[in-house]
Amino acid sequence: MDSYLAEQSSQTYEREISKISKAINNAETFEEWIQLAKQAKDYHYKYRINIDELISLISIKVRPGLYKNSISDQKDQILLNLQNLLELQKLEIPVGEIKNVIIEYALRWIEDVNDVKKIKAFKGETVVQDPDTSREILKIINQLEIAEEKTQEKLKKLNELFPVPTEPVPNQPVYITQRSQIIMGPPIFVRSELNVNQCKIMWKGKQIAAVIKTYKEQGGYKSLKKFQKEVGILHKLSGTSRFFLDFYGCFCDEVIENNVIKYCSNIVMEYCQHSLSDLIKSRKDQNTKFTPEELGSIALDLLEAFQSLVNHKIYHQDIKPDNILITKDGQWKIADFNVSGIRETIERTYSATGVHDVIGTVGYMAPELRKAYINGEGKAKYRPERADVFSLGLVLYQCETFDDISRFNENPINREKVLSNVRLPWLRELLYDMLNFNYRERLSFKRALSKVMRDTTATLDSNAT
Ligand SMILES: Nc1ncnc2c1ncn2[C@@H]1O[C@H](COP(=O)(O)OP(=O)(O)OP(=O)(O)O)[C@@H](O)[C@H]1O
Ligand SMILES: [Mg+2]
Repeated sequence: MDSYLAEQSSQTYEREISKISKAINNAETFEEWIQLAKQAKDYHYKYRINIDELISLISIKVRPGLYKNSISDQKDQILLNLQNLLELQKLEIPVGEIKNVIIEYALRWIEDVNDVKKIKAFKGETVVQDPDTSREILKIINQLEIAEEKTQEKLKKLNELFPVPTEPVPNQPVYITQRSQIIMGPPIFVRSELNVNQCKIMWKGKQIAAVIKTYKEQGGYKSLKKFQKEVGILHKLSGTSRFFLDFYGCFCDEVIENNVIKYCSNIVMEYCQHSLSDLIKSRKDQNTKFTPEELGSIALDLLEAFQSLVNHKIYHQDIKPDNILITKDGQWKIADFNVSGIRETIERTYSATGVHDVIGTVGYMAPELRKAYINGEGKAKYRPERADVFSLGLVLYQCETFDDISRFNENPINREKVLSNVRLPWLRELLYDMLNFNYRERLSFKRALSKVMRDTTATLDSNAT
């Protein structure tokens, strides 16, 4: 949580933006553009440039040049372009229209070379099929997010013709599949249906600190569902952003407790030394408030972290300081996905009504959820992302004031309390909008992030002059 704010003046990063914009504008090939986009992403971490705007703006201008020089019918170039797309997707760098063009070319190559439409056969031309390269191409395309229905249909047909053997090849090696692979350590968290323990795992000849989260038999089918959801999400997110935990594997087994066999579902993941909850508590005990720079850094990082989650179409639904962890290097990690919502599932089940299950921790729930919860209703009408924004607003409020927030979400009048207790004008304004009791008027993470970027930069500028 070092203060980048104090380090960088707006002049430095304006210079950097203009330098990189110019370079991206002059890029002549897709490869060159990618290198520069990656550099821009680094700047984004370093100087907090809003990369989405920067890149989408620039990619429109350079599109014709990039098409001309990089799109080709050659299979090596096709494979290279696809691998590049995959890398950009992992880095969350938007590439715009060029992505569709590359995929379209690749699918057309498979159709042509294998004479899928039987045109060459009809003309009596010889066909030399290339199923191996076709599979190689499909394997990459299957990992890319594709929005266009037409492309998805074409892809589905080609996948049927050239089935790619499914193998578990995640970003991280998943290698923990049984208890004998771990060395158990002390408990961190114990509840009747859930344990979290420290542990060690062997990796490339070294012992790595990890945790094992065990859903116990007592939790019944509900626990199993939670386990399944958490594994799916941790696996999907692992290695895709600095805000997500490394996933090391999962397994089911049994342990003997008091001569009784208990069935357990276990997840092994990266260990974090502290949580935001520990940090707030220790600061409160020492009576040391977070400095304005620290608060700026916390707000920016956490908004970016939850925006990354939304980019993966996942809503956390239980945001609170206990579920925001910190590694020993001071990196924030989002934890505890067992009640999270996945957009595709939500859309399949509830999209027409906008009504969802009431979940989360009552003190941190958005008001529209709390009300339903207090009335004993299992469902409520709400927008999952906006509910998360409210919960994060409460977390940020707590970082600033150390106040008990448990009844804050009961009454809109309480919002005024936030305004009077918050010292920093930019945070006061941000919380005013994040803690709006009307979810239709509440900010999204994206808008909250742009607001903080703009406002903290303005504060810096005025401090500098
Ligand atoms: N990767 C981790 N590294 C360190 N501690 C962890 C990790 N994962 C979980 N913990 C600790 O275990 C606690 C419980 O884990 P988690 O929040 O995932 O379970 P949970 O059942 O969903 O808990 P709750 O319902 O209380 O939120 C966390 O609050 C945290 O203190
Ligand atoms: Mg938790």
